[in-house]
Amino acid sequence: MAARIILFGATGYTGELTARAMVKAGSTPILAARSPERVQALADELGGLDTVVADVTDPASVRSLVDKGDVIVTTVGPFARLGEPAFQAALDAGAHYVDSTGEPSWIRRVFEADAQAKNAGIAALTAFGYDYVPGNLAAGMALDLAGADAVSVNVGYFFQGGFGASGGTLASLAGALLTPGFEYRDGAIRTVRGAKAEHTFATQGGPRVGLSIGSSEHFAIPQISDAITDVNAYLGWFGPRTAPARYGAAAVAGITKIPGAKALLGAGLKKALPGSTGGPSTAERAKSGSVAVAEALAADGTQVSFVELNGPNGYDLTAEFLAFAGRTLATVGPANTGSLGPVKAFGLDALAAGCAAAGLKPVS
Ligand SMILES: NC(=O)c1ccc[n+]([C@@H]2O[C@H](COP(=O)([O-])OP(=O)(O)OC[C@H]3O[C@@H](n4cnc5c(N)ncnc54)[C@H](OP(=O)(O)O)[C@@H]3O)[C@@H](O)[C@H]2O)c1
Repeated sequence: MAARIILFGATGYTGELTARAMVKAGSTPILAARSPERVQALADELGGLDTVVADVTDPASVRSLVDKGDVIVTTVGPFARLGEPAFQAALDAGAHYVDSTGEPSWIRRVFEADAQAKNAGIAALTAFGYDYVPGNLAAGMALDLAGADAVSVNVGYFFQGGFGASGGTLASLAGALLTPGFEYRDGAIRTVRGAKAEHTFATQGGPRVGLSIGSSEHFAIPQISDAITDVNAYLGWFGPRTAPARYGAAAVAGITKIPGAKALLGAGLKKALPGSTGGPSTAERAKSGSVAVAEALAADGTQVSFVELNGPNGYDLTAEFLAFAGRTLATVGPANTGSLGPVKAFGLDALAAGCAAAGLKPVS
């Protein structure tokens, strides 16, 4: 019998898309959210799913969502601010955990709890959305092609068509700007600020430039290849505004070192970007797509393999990926336990098949 899937944050923008993707794929998640009326209305619309009310300001209500062997999929973010109760509940209960974060500090939090996740016998999968599943898959495929020569990997994330961000994405991005990022250099995770460097990839659509960011690949790629000593990830959301964005990030990093400035800036951003304000419509999402690339490099910097994946809009991908992870954990179980990247959690072939079903495929 399949384990229970609890979808926490079901009434949010990404949560609702995920609930729909789960039901479309044949799962019957229990919908959890803080508003009883809104979660009940969604559950009724989706054919009469079970519901439960929980609020992260009352961690006991979140703890009571899960029992041993359950799967909790959470879209309650920003995660650095709101994520702890659901992750702690999963660790305490022995429930598999999946989240939709893209925030570097939260990704690090989950990966650094690897020993606790192993002790709890669970798979803890963070950042299981548009960022950062596609780059993990592309890197896994590039390493497969590269053979023994590869020692470093660069991944890049881009979009085609318009880029509309949800209120939740903007709120999370604002918080992420104020916290240190990280890189994987010479075989170790090192704390560095985000947007420190830029890199250009030769994609099918021409050269595209991205800014460095702390992502799940820094923890996940070394899990699948002992030979890899350096991992870099780049977000290419800024196009011609890449250089100004890099200088802006440097300025923010400088400002946040001034005593009191970080708290003040954080409070201002929280007010200006509260989250839960919706996101792009189905029609808007249909006009855009996502691109992820990975290159594996030899010790002398020569590119030994390159993989490009194209797919639909990032929000649609995120919903499909979360539905895939929830369903696979509930029916098959994980390939390993601990804080895992996507390839280590499911294996390269199963992950590639899950991503292809979501519309994310290699381009030749
Ligand atoms: N990695 C990716 O590619 C990717 C893609 C999409 C989203 N995300 C991330 O996923 C998160 C959600 O994004 P979104 O677009 O869905 O944003 P959103 O619409 O703002 O959703 C936030 C969710 O958190 C819930 N929430 C807020 N405070 C809560 C509390 N005290 N107790 C319980 N629930 C609470 C909200 O409940 P209400 O519905 O009651 O307001 C809502 O369901 C963000 O962190 C975003 O950055 C990442």
